[in-house]
Amino acid sequence: MTLLAVDAVTKRFRGLVAVDSVSFDVAAGEIFAVIGPNGAGKTTLFNLMAGVHTPDSGRIVFQGDRIDGLRPDEIARRGIGRTFQIVRPFPNMTVLDNVIVGGLMHGAAVETARDAARAILARLELDDQHAKLAAELTLPDRKRLEVARALATAPRLLLLDEVMAGLRPTEVDRIVAILRAINRESGMTIILIEHVMRAVIALAARVLVLHHGAVIASGAPEAIVRHPEVMRSYLGTEALG
Ligand SMILES: Nc1ncnc2c1ncn2[C@@H]1O[C@H](COP(=O)(O)OP(=O)(O)O)[C@@H](O)[C@H]1O
Ligand SMILES: [Mg+2]
Repeated sequence: MTLLAVDAVTKRFRGLVAVDSVSFDVAAGEIFAVIGPNGAGKTTLFNLMAGVHTPDSGRIVFQGDRIDGLRPDEIARRGIGRTFQIVRPFPNMTVLDNVIVGGLMHGAAVETARDAARAILARLELDDQHAKLAAELTLPDRKRLEVARALATAPRLLLLDEVMAGLRPTEVDRIVAILRAINRESGMTIILIEHVMRAVIALAARVLVLHHGAVIASGAPEAIVRHPEVMRSYLGTEALG
């Protein structure tokens, strides 16, 4: 079953075509990756799906309904949760409260949101960090808190914008294992923007490659990695490490 259909979506900023007639479908339960160099339009694509921007043309259909042009809160309520490339927890709130807030924004009662937040933090291996302020967390823990906050809105589709960036391989592997378990156990659909190819290969069934806003390749990660033009010209050989 198709959960999300992006159909010929274009977004311009003045003269710049940030997203250029991009089309793809994501099936319910799939893990799908979007890669491409800085400035390729990846975050803008997420912002279009999350209601931050309205496409200049094209359609975005989620669970059978058009969502392009809806407000971010309306889209969140329909079941799309997202992280931000620049992590933005509330720094002076505790880790637990940061996640509770996500649940409250989704309309849960406080007790329900607190129980859910505890379960989510356990899932993200942050159970021993509840009482810390978000500002006190290490980068790997902050990245997992960002995922926890997105999960608190109980999404059907989770959008992850570079949650592995800046992490060491062991921390990447830890998030990969957590995301795999969430996907397997709850069937949650995940779209990740990611430069860390070991994570893309480990997680995604299919990959979309953007360059200058346009799709230049798509397919299984193994095929994308062997696509010499994609890897050499657009990501750099270090992305393979
Ligand atoms: N709000 C905005 N206003 C103007 N230009 C923007 C805005 N957001 C992104 N851009 C531009 O659109 C292009 C794509 O950016 P972005 O989607 O952030 O790329 P990526 O996430 O792939 O690095 C870049 O040239 C960026 O400068
Ligand atoms: Mg980006």
